[in-house]
Amino acid sequence: MKRTCKHVIVTGGAQGIGRIVTEELLNHDYNVSVFDIDNEAMEELRPHFHRRSCDFFITDVSNEVSVRSSIRAALKKFGPAYGLVNNAVYEIFKPMEELTPDEWNRAIATNLTGTFFCSRYLIPSLRETKGSIVNMCSTRAFQSEANTESYSASKGGIFSLTHAMAVSLAPDVRVNSISPGWIDVSAIKKKKIARQVPLSEEDHLQHPAGRVGNAWDIARMVLFLMDAENSFVTAQNFVVDGGMTKKMIYV
Ligand SMILES: NC(=O)c1ccc[n+]([C@@H]2O[C@H](COP(=O)([O-])OP(=O)(O)OC[C@H]3O[C@@H](n4cnc5c(N)ncnc54)[C@H](O)[C@@H]3O)[C@@H](O)[C@H]2O)c1
Repeated sequence: MKRTCKHVIVTGGAQGIGRIVTEELLNHDYNVSVFDIDNEAMEELRPHFHRRSCDFFITDVSNEVSVRSSIRAALKKFGPAYGLVNNAVYEIFKPMEELTPDEWNRAIATNLTGTFFCSRYLIPSLRETKGSIVNMCSTRAFQSEANTESYSASKGGIFSLTHAMAVSLAPDVRVNSISPGWIDVSAIKKKKIARQVPLSEEDHLQHPAGRVGNAWDIARMVLFLMDAENSFVTAQNFVVDGGMTKKMIYV
């Protein structure tokens, strides 16, 4: 099946996994609208992408007004959206006794409600183009380290929201999620915070795949899920973690 439109919106597309997803989509002839709250990070990218079909929209995905305004501007620029990658994240790891209600709410509002807002307001466009939504979940939706409550709960919500939306929007729109494991994005940040964190042999070898993941591992899965040829794939979660969550650990 040929896709009818090539415009994809990537939230949190200015740094980390989202930035590489944006680059790979551009390499595969999609038009990309980046929705990110960090204007400094977007301005650093602008010169690199200025000859390509990419534009940047300052957006707080947790704010309904901001989402609606960016969607309006992006659709005006590139036409109806074929794809949406809900990738923006607020991450805070803190003991529960110290986690404030505001921090809890911000994690849920950015990660889960942001995914709902962007999807909700793109439904007419995505139905028109027979599009694809990819939500960034996490292996932390299924297993935990201590002090990760707000992040894990938001990702558990994204897992369920994915199959719920897939059923509601069928057969027009496919909705899937990706659950990355350990993906090293330390160097894929705006200049003032980018620094390659050293990875030890132990870091790599604990993974059945023999290495820590990188953002391209996730971007390739996004490309697969965007591809209209894969129209039988919906309502699923794809774990991309080098096998870590299947490894039994006894100490
Ligand atoms: N890196 C990993 O190991 C890993 C593992 C599992 C899941 N994930 C998921 O992958 C996705 C990307 O993670 P990452 O590590 O690349 O993150 P990152 O922190 O490198 O990038 C996140 C981007 O989201 C933007 N953002 C934050 N709040 C926003 C808001 N309110 N509105 C719009 N944009 C906002 C940031 O400015 C940033 O550019 C996230 O959903 C994360 O939960 C990552």
